[in-house]
Amino acid sequence: MYIESYGCAMNFSDSEIIASILSKVGYIQTSDITNADLIFLNTCSIRDKAEQTIRSRIKSFKNLKSKNSKLKIGVLGCMAERLKNKFLEEEKLVDLVVGPDAYKDLPELLKSVNSGERAVNVELSLEETYGDISPVRLNSNNVTAFVSIMRGCDNMCTFCVVPFTRGRERSRDPETIVQEITKLYNDGYREVTLLGQNVDSYLWYGGGPKIDFNKLSEIKKASSVNFSQLLKKVAKINSNMRIRFSTSHPKDITDEVINTISKFENICNYIHLPVQSGSSRILKLMNRGYNRDWYINRINKIREIIPNCGISHDIISSFCTESEKDHNDTLSLMEEVKFDYGYMFKYSERPNTKAARKFKDDVSENVKSRRLSEIIEKQRIHSLIKNREKVGNTYKVLVEGKSKKSNDFLYGRTTHNLVTIFPKKKFSPGDYVKIKIKDCNSATLFGESI
Ligand code: SAH
Ligand code: SF4
Ligand code: F3S
Repeated sequence: MYIESYGCAMNFSDSEIIASILSKVGYIQTSDITNADLIFLNTCSIRDKAEQTIRSRIKSFKNLKSKNSKLKIGVLGCMAERLKNKFLEEEKLVDLVVGPDAYKDLPELLKSVNSGERAVNVELSLEETYGDISPVRLNSNNVTAFVSIMRGCDNMCTFCVVPFTRGRERSRDPETIVQEITKLYNDGYREVTLLGQNVDSYLWYGGGPKIDFNKLSEIKKASSVNFSQLLKKVAKINSNMRIRFSTSHPKDITDEVINTISKFENICNYIHLPVQSGSSRILKLMNRGYNRDWYINRINKIREIIPNCGISHDIISSFCTESEKDHNDTLSLMEEVKFDYGYMFKYSERPNTKAARKFKDDVSENVKSRRLSEIIEKQRIHSLIKNREKVGNTYKVLVEGKSKKSNDFLYGRTTHNLVTIFPKKKFSPGDYVKIKIKDCNSATLFGESI
């Protein structure tokens, strides 16, 4: 079995759950695709380009399939969920289509596939389906790991396909989260990233779809666990275990969460807070649930409670009806905030979303490209300014592995999630090392241990 993952961290984490489910029924993992009798693509639908990449990858398997008559190809993840049966009609090389909540059914589905049928399961669930599974860590550096804490999303941003591909939002039992992280610590891991589409709305109240806290009975309220409380629980597992999380939503991040981050040394001072646009008019069309002022207020609160907190963004440029003024609002918001880092995209219309049904994708391709490059260039300058501010300071870096460029150097990250390169000396992955920063570019810090 060979698994290839695309898209967000959640997919990479799901692939580890899939490997675990299949290893229990005798499938052996290989990193050599030409050796495999089963190829899985864990797919992403977020932008059209992501789907095109998968389509051409599938076509490239034609040769492998003609050489190996036993070879089966399975499509998993968000694109499987979005296209369902249509996938089998459109892609003749595919034998199996399985959505993000149906992986426990894989052993059964594979029995049908191996007897020559084509199989589909794209059922979505109202429970966190995989809490009891201990993932098999794939391509691991043995230092950092992802841990899913919730699934799905109820937010219905008008541009986004995720609510359709991942279903209703539901949180995972905190006890199983603590158990998984404790095991990771005992296995030598020193950093976990808690994953969810909207971690700030994590709420455990015994299982089931997301519910408003105020609608819980008094008994349930008392025993419920919100994101801040979950962070405290996991931070207390061991002070040498670093905690990160992704993604925070500006409408839901509370002062309580920000205070918890500042209170625990091992919760990293880094928040990924997607803004999407600096224009309140566009934010409203996107149904983001906040406006420009609200976003800037959240940034100010973060910087008041956690000075020097690393902050990154996601921005979608050229959403439906975006004018030059809206675009300039995004640039001026970037100027006002000065983000440390960012992920920037052109708007890509997704079938069946509200934006596709109701609004016009009316910014021309040329204008989209020009606006996106202006945003990317501004971010590059800001990242460089922010990184230069770090030169001369000393930070605790968790070593993750050898630097790609040289065996004499290691790399790790600071609390702000900044990649830092330094001479190896006697250090090894998993060590915490104090690094004095000597130099930087817009993407990386360079330093020396002290
Ligand atoms: N749940 C996260 C985002 C997950 S998707 C959140 O709400 O912050 C990751 C990023 O992809 C989004 O933040 C957005 O910037 C981008 N994205 C989502 N849909 C998109 C689309 N239709 N076109 C372009 N970018 C998109
Ligand atoms: Fe998509 Fe919005 Fe949910 Fe993020 S919060 S996954 S952008 S619908
Ligand atoms: Fe892509 Fe699905 Fe993640 S659409 S970004 S893989 S939730």
